[in-house]
Order: sequence, then structure tokens, then C-alpha cells
Amino acid sequence: MTIALGADHAGVALKDAVKHLLDARGLRYTDFGTTADASVDYPDYAAKVARAVASGEADRGILVCGTGVGMAIAANKVAGIRAAPVYTAATAQIVREHNDLNVLTLGARTTTADEARDIVAAFLDTPFAGGRHGRRVDKISALDTTR
Ligand code: RB5
Repeated sequence: MTIALGADHAGVALKDAVKHLLDARGLRYTDFGTTADASVDYPDYAAKVARAVASGEADRGILVCGTGVGMAIAANKVAGIRAAPVYTAATAQIVREHNDLNVLTLGARTTTADEARDIVAAFLDTPFAGGRHGRRVDKISALDTTR
């Protein structure tokens, strides 16, 4: 599994913590930045990660901003992306099973590195349940072409 990573200035430290988690699991990732404290605009990094996932260059994406909300709003503009801010591991498990979440967004101002470890583990380890949830996700995908 290859993961696309991105963050704005608020999320750099938590993104680095996520990279350590991925290193410990031996997972490949591409870091699309940013890597410094200088203020940047989160939609630019959401777009890079969302396009990498939508194109198949990456299997999943993880984005970090202050709350995870701006990153999710921006990433969901890219067709094929199902992104959401997730604040608990229990929710991460459910949104993988039911919504086939393919981009996890984290909030550096809402979530500790320890909490992120459990959220990321659930995001990576939980398979999509399919069945009736597949029908619903297909209906979400159909909305990609509507206005
Ligand atoms: C940046 O200050 C902040 O607005 C951003 O990281 C994020 O919280 C937006 O959703």
C-alpha cells in the first residue's frame, strides 16, 4: 500500500508523526509537503494528495491541517475522493467499513500524536465492508458528475 501525505503549516508536526508510524509499519509513502512552518494554503496540498489517490498513484491519502476540516472540504472536490476529518479510532473503523474512506484528514489542533496513531491504524487496517455499503458508495460516486 502506498500512502500520499500532505499538510499545511499547522499540520507539519503531526504529519511527521504519521510518517514515523508508516515507517514503523514498513509502508511506502509520498510526502507532498509542506515541510516547514511558513504559512501556506491547505487547498494546494489537499489537491496534490487527492489527485494522487484519484489517479491511482497512491492507494490512500492522509492530510493534516488545523482541524482536518479544510483539507476534507478541498479534497472532496476531486472526483473519486471520499475524505473526512476523523477524531476517534472507532470512527475511523466505521468510515472505512461503511464509506470506503480513501483520504483521512487529521486536525493538529484537535488530535494528539497518540490519538493519531490509533486513528491511522484503524484507517489502514480496516477493509471496506461492501454489500449494501457498496451500493451507497456507488451512489456517492455518481454524484461526482453532478453539479
Ligand atoms: C490554518 O491556520 C488553518 O486555517 C488550517 O490549518 C485549517 O484548520 C483549515 O481547515
